[in-house]
Amino acid sequence: MTISLSSNVEMSNRSIKVVRVTKDDYEKVCAITPPGQIYSGTDYLPDYFHMLLDMPNVEAYAAVVDGKFASFFLSSVVDNGRTVITRAGRTNKEYAGMGLQDILMRNTIKNRNYDKIAVTGGAHVKAIFDQIKAGKREKILMMEFRSYITSGDQLKSILNTTGNITPTSAKPIDESELGDLLTNQQVCCHLFPEGRVIVDWVPYRLIKSNASLIKTIRTTVIGSNLKNGTRILTFANYINTLAGLVCNIEVYGYIGETLAEHLYLHLRELISKVISGKVIIRCFFRQETNSNFITNLMKRFGLDITEIWGTTLVCTETSPEIYFRESKL
Ligand SMILES: CC(C)(COP(=O)(O)OP(=O)(O)OC[C@H]1O[C@@H](n2cnc3c(N)ncnc32)[C@H](O)[C@@H]1OP(=O)(O)O)[C@@H](O)C(=O)NCCC(=O)NCCS
Repeated sequence: MTISLSSNVEMSNRSIKVVRVTKDDYEKVCAITPPGQIYSGTDYLPDYFHMLLDMPNVEAYAAVVDGKFASFFLSSVVDNGRTVITRAGRTNKEYAGMGLQDILMRNTIKNRNYDKIAVTGGAHVKAIFDQIKAGKREKILMMEFRSYITSGDQLKSILNTTGNITPTSAKPIDESELGDLLTNQQVCCHLFPEGRVIVDWVPYRLIKSNASLIKTIRTTVIGSNLKNGTRILTFANYINTLAGLVCNIEVYGYIGETLAEHLYLHLRELISKVISGKVIIRCFFRQETNSNFITNLMKRFGLDITEIWGTTLVCTETSPEIYFRESKL
């Protein structure tokens, strides 16, 4: 293991070492918490680990207690260096509540000039709302999501027969076009009135440079009617998880029949991958959207509604000043 940063902290008479995580640490990181115990089996880290560590804006650290990887922390810097997003954090049960995530967070943000620290989580997680109530974090945005399930074989068969659609307006959007959309005021007022776009659980401000971070090797962006009030922009990312192939689809804009074309294109992209077993589509949308409309569209593709790890996402933010003031350490 390459240790490019390390420090020792004495805590509860135990020696805690903070190490920079590299791709060589994959097995040790995955062993911290069994994937079945995170996000109801839809943990993305085992599949995303190498991709995330290859990204220039990502840093990951582990707290090593008595020689064992006890806690993992990953940060992703977005918004032209202004915001640090924390994601995929986990602590082995044996070491929970000792402040290990706190140590790793302090290690990541010290001596940096981030304005904000943001995180998204499931709104059913009590700890998140406790932090909001206590004034430690501010709620920025909430989105509804619904999970839909089918099998890879059924999805392929439906898409190749009854569900076949010829898109008339929906088309793929590349990184450069996405960058332009993120800075087009008219488009943004309609699609992202809160000033944020959440993709694959990561909140981004509406800044051109975020386009290259949003579009990873797993991302497909589809747009339709982008010049008028019926515009739709959707993002999809897929992840191999213990529970099956999960595809996160975020929907922004006008909810109408054209959305079926978007879903069709995202699902076609998905079945071009090798799929066996279950397919779980998690569709994210604005809170005022009629979720039954989305559910009925999904039914056309043979996807049945199910509940896996909640139905609402919450994005919260704090500042380094507030974080350091409130930190228990
Ligand atoms: C969340 C988790 C990483 C906390 O690890 P930890 O080392 O016990 O954390 P610490 O001891 O440093 O601090 C505990 C803090 O985490 C908060 N916390 C606990 N569960 C949380 C959760 N699911 N999401 C966000 N915060 C959580 C606690 O409220 C506490 O906050 P406080 O200091 O304001 O009281 C750990 O409980 C875990 O592995 N959970 C399962 C994976 C998961 O859901 N991760 C969230 C990724 S967004």
